[in-house]
This record gives sequence, structure tokens and C-alpha cells, in this order.
Amino acid sequence: MRSAQLLSPETMVFDTTLIPMAADRPGDDPIFRLDAEARKRAAAGDSILNATIGALLEDDGTLAILPSVSDAVAAVDPHRAAAYAPISGEPAFQQAVIDDTFRNSPLNEFAVAAATPGGTGAILHAITNFLEPGQSILVPQYYWGPYQIIASHTARKVETFNMFNSEGRFDLEAFDTALAGQLDRQGRALFISNFPCNNPTGYSLDDAEWEGLSEVIEGQAKKGPVSFLLDLAYARFGAAGSERWVEHVERFAHCAQLLVAWTASKAFAQYGARVGALIAVHPDSAERDRLKAAMGFACRGTWSNCNHQAMVAITELLLDPDKRRRATGEREVLKRLLRERVDAFNQAAGETSLHYPRYEGGFFVSVFTPDAEKTAARMRELGVYVIPLEGAVRIALCSTRAQDVPRLVAALEEGLAAVGGAG
Ligand SMILES: Cc1ncc(COP(=O)(O)O)c(C=O)c1O
Repeated sequence: MRSAQLLSPETMVFDTTLIPMAADRPGDDPIFRLDAEARKRAAAGDSILNATIGALLEDDGTLAILPSVSDAVAAVDPHRAAAYAPISGEPAFQQAVIDDTFRNSPLNEFAVAAATPGGTGAILHAITNFLEPGQSILVPQYYWGPYQIIASHTARKVETFNMFNSEGRFDLEAFDTALAGQLDRQGRALFISNFPCNNPTGYSLDDAEWEGLSEVIEGQAKKGPVSFLLDLAYARFGAAGSERWVEHVERFAHCAQLLVAWTASKAFAQYGARVGALIAVHPDSAERDRLKAAMGFACRGTWSNCNHQAMVAITELLLDPDKRRRATGEREVLKRLLRERVDAFNQAAGETSLHYPRYEGGFFVSVFTPDAEKTAARMRELGVYVIPLEGAVRIALCSTRAQDVPRLVAALEEGLAAVGGAG
């Protein structure tokens, strides 16, 4: 065959030209690998409960969507959709996401934003603009894995601190110590906070924990520059009251760089549209101009500009009162669906010795285990797929029907029994 003559291992006269940093990258994401295995077994006729993938599914297994969003996307003028979006996004989009995030908070007036492909793009911009190469982001011990990938890809690192204290609450002492250590060593810090509805634990801070966290930031910000990135990925699915994070961050916005990663992926069930934004708050207008310029430059230097059609559609949904009302109503239906699952989990797991953090809403919960790999392996034997993490297994309630929760919890108990305890 011509291709074999042209290119075969024998005719190759060079090995890899990947730079060392890129030469040993893991090729497959463990979440997608386990999901693929679960789907393969289900297709072969096994009874499978697949709690791996982080998208909200209807009880019939189809992706839950908001019809109002699909309508808005379809209604965008094709010529406008086909044109490039401005580098940092349309000004109306920027203002709409700022308003959506801060509503009536005084922070609104001091915020600037740039469009990014989902929250992922916002996280990338935060890491590359607020940390030097070689420095580490600060995250609690249970965090979204791609933070590590983005950090590594951009020559940064990850530092973690103990997330829960002996009472099962956010470990403020560990946070204080870790933040102080970073400021000593790096001369700056970027803390990524994925509350409400942390992925992977489902944990949301209560008012007292937010107050404690704000105090720590106020205290440490006296020693050096602190940036605080709030990753709002699942926030819209938090329990009532969780939206009070805005009031809490108001307290330290004068002394720390407040950043917010806004995304339409979950809030508008529009994962593939890649609509998001990085928001930055600063009291000084000259600094806001610098922030805006840095973000726009970073956009041009990465993806150039974002999906225009979806950006226009989401802007409409945020600004037009009727469309907004419709989308909010449809989201409420999805929130109720998820709430049923959260309640079913708390009820079933609450009657067992399973050990898991306070869980009031969000796509995931994690159950602690001394050996996550073994626990997950035993569960797979029972046809139940979860994601093993360091010290816990992650369960995607977003893709688990309430009626399947008893089976899930029974498998978790079996998985824990296989490693000799409740973790
Ligand atoms: C914690 C967290 N942050 C950010 C994201 C980014 O999602 P997107 O880029 O689609 O907004 C995800 C997606 O799974 C997530 O789980």
C-alpha cells in the first residue's frame, strides 16, 4: 500500500518532537473511560447504573435541555451568527453576565468581563493572568480534575489543603495556613473556590463558613496579593440561600482580586455551546481597564473569539424579560428533578453508615472510602459505575434516577464493605 511505503515505523527517521512537558500526557480521561465501559456493558445487555457523567439527564436517559435556549439559538440571524464575535465578547453579553452574577450588589458597578468558552476558558485566563509560571493555584483537597490539567498545561501547579475538619465542616484553619504559606513562598496566591455545589463533593458553604472564609482572606490579603476565583459551574442548582455568596464576597472585594467564572453550560443546559465569561471586580477604574486589556489579550492569544451564535442567544435569554422568565421556569423543572434525586440520596444514605459531606444540591456527591479504587471496582461488579478519587468515590446524581438511588446506595455499602469500613 502506498501509505505503508510513505509512512511506516521503519521509514520514520525521527522519534517524538513533542517537548518533554507534553511527551507523557495521559491520553484518556478516566471519567470518559469508565463511562464508555458502562455504556458498552449496557449495550451488551447488562443491567448498568451509570453515575459517572456530569450532565443532567432526564429519567429516560436523554440529556435535559431548556427548549427556550434551543429556540433562542435557532432564532439568531444567520449573518450575525456567522460573523466573528468581538474578541472579548459583545458588550451587551459582558454586561448581561455581570448583571446575572451580581444582580443588585454594588459589585456590579465595579466589574468587567470577557467572553470565554465556558467556565473552562475563564479558569484558564485566571490561572495564566494571576499566577506566574511555576506557581501553584490553591484548591481544597477535593477539586475538579481539569484544574490540574489546565495548571500543568500552562506550566503552573496545584496545591491543596485539607477540605473538611473533624466536624465535617470546611477546614478554615487549613485554608488559612495554606494561603499564608503560598503568600510566603510565591508572593501571591490564586484560590479557586467551587462553591456552591462543589464538584466532586456537592458541598456548599453555609453563612458561617463563608464568613470564616472571608475573614481568612481579609487577614491574609494584608500580607500579599490574593486573587479569589469563584467557579460558579453548578451554583444555579444550589439549595435556597446558597446564592448569598454574593453578600459574602462583597466583604473582601476591596482587598482581594475577586474573579468569577460564569458559564451557560449547566445553568442553561448548553454544554456544547461553550458560552462563558471571566468577570473581574476592582474598585479602581484604571485597574479595571488593565484587567479588561489583559483578558482581551488572553482571548486573542488563545481562541481569538467565542461562539457568536450561542453568545447572542444567551444574551437574549438574559436580557429579554419574557425569554428570561421562560428559561427560569424551565430551569426550575430541572432543579426539581435534581432535588428529588438529592432527597432520595440523603434519605437512603442517611439510614446507612456511609460517610459523606453535607449535601444540599448540585450534580454530584462523594462518599468517603479508605480505598476508592477497590470500592469502585466492587461496585462495577454490581453494575454500578462511579468515579474513584483520592479518598472518596464521586457519584453523579445528575445522571441517576431517583428510583435507582436505593440500588446505588446498596452498591456503595457493598463497595465500602469490600474495603472494610465506612471511610
Ligand atoms: C467544577 C467545574 N468547573 C468548571 C467546569 C467547566 O465547564 P464549562 O467549561 O463547560 O463551563 C466544570 C465542568 O464540568 C466543572 O465541573
